[in-house]
Amino acid sequence: MSKLSSKCVKESIERRTTKPHQLPIYATSSFELDSVEEGMDIFKDPSKGHLYGRFSNPTIDAVAEKIATLEAHGTTLTDEWGIMTSSGLSAITTLLMAELSAGDVILTQGNLYGGTTELIKNRLPQYGIGCILVDLTDVNAVKEALQKNKDIKAIYFETPSNPALDCIDLKKIAEIAKAHKVITVVDNTFCSPVVQRPFLFGIDYIIHSTTKYINGHGNSISGVMIGYGEERRKKVWSTMKLIGTNCNPFDAWLVNNGMKTLALRMKQHCSNALELAQFLNDHKGVATVNYLGLEDHRFHDLAKIQMDGFGGMMCFEVAAGSANGYEAGIQVMNALKIGSLAPTMGDVDTLIMHPASMSHLNVAPEIRAKNGISDSLIRVSVGIEDIEDLKEDFDRALQLVS
Ligand SMILES: Cc1ncc(COP(=O)(O)O)c(C=O)c1O
Repeated sequence: MSKLSSKCVKESIERRTTKPHQLPIYATSSFELDSVEEGMDIFKDPSKGHLYGRFSNPTIDAVAEKIATLEAHGTTLTDEWGIMTSSGLSAITTLLMAELSAGDVILTQGNLYGGTTELIKNRLPQYGIGCILVDLTDVNAVKEALQKNKDIKAIYFETPSNPALDCIDLKKIAEIAKAHKVITVVDNTFCSPVVQRPFLFGIDYIIHSTTKYINGHGNSISGVMIGYGEERRKKVWSTMKLIGTNCNPFDAWLVNNGMKTLALRMKQHCSNALELAQFLNDHKGVATVNYLGLEDHRFHDLAKIQMDGFGGMMCFEVAAGSANGYEAGIQVMNALKIGSLAPTMGDVDTLIMHPASMSHLNVAPEIRAKNGISDSLIRVSVGIEDIEDLKEDFDRALQLVS
């Protein structure tokens, strides 16, 4: 190659000497092959190498594998795998598309994350996949639904639910599902693998919006599907590759950075949430507090069995007195200084949200009401700030309306 323009075009030669201490970002859409034979080999067996960025990428694969390892922690699994996707919702869509066909039915709950409810109720039926909503905390209702409808192929759920914090018995649901040869999929976003590991209780698949706790810093959108066994991995991976829901290396890399402090962060989220919940419980400006760590919570005992700590999510209703509850709730949210009004959760800083006008706006009002999402409910994703600052700020905001 003698011409200047050709030298410009040619990719630089990587001069790597020692191993990078931190995971590199492989910003490449494709991977170069040494020979046609090598390409044929990888096309036949994708585990032999990388070909194209939509299929796999070393940065993304490393992060997905690490999340799978965390979810498998404490189990006897040796063949767990993770596949990252472009968002939490694309992880859900990809997994359900991989496992279900027209004619199949999903058994699920009414109080899922609003986007997931919309997907399952409004979009999947366009492709012939139906759904039945039951209260999954009622084990008999689950058994009855499975006996009545032989088209149910998957039980999909969140525990604790968003934002009502209902806990579903992971072990019991996994046992019933296995007896009916139905797969179980759990969205574990609310807990992260530090606080809850559904594989320990016999669940088949776990998904996360890694946008939330696993990243923890609110600077990327991504998701992950986690399962075990090579057959399932191939089915899910080939679906991801064909519908193009792959993650991108930069977002995966940001998730990797966040994960290093995941255990530390979750510990602080849990202890701050417990202390704030106790504080609000005693506050005259608050009507009700919903936090799993409070001993009188109806799911406290189940949470103690299947979770390590009670998480960083809580809800409360403002005591409006004679005022309109909706208005009072909004006044408190607008008055809070430390809590940012943002439609996400799981970041290091405290986030407040009004489900009725934000995440659950497109969920039918009757489904909202049935699932404890009142107009005055405020959801708090408790951050890792100093707890005294948090208490002071909530107290000040509540004084304004009480
Ligand atoms: C519990 C839960 N699952 C899934 C999602 C969807 O995740 P993403 O926004 O990354 O698509 C969200 C988003 O808020 C969520 O709260």
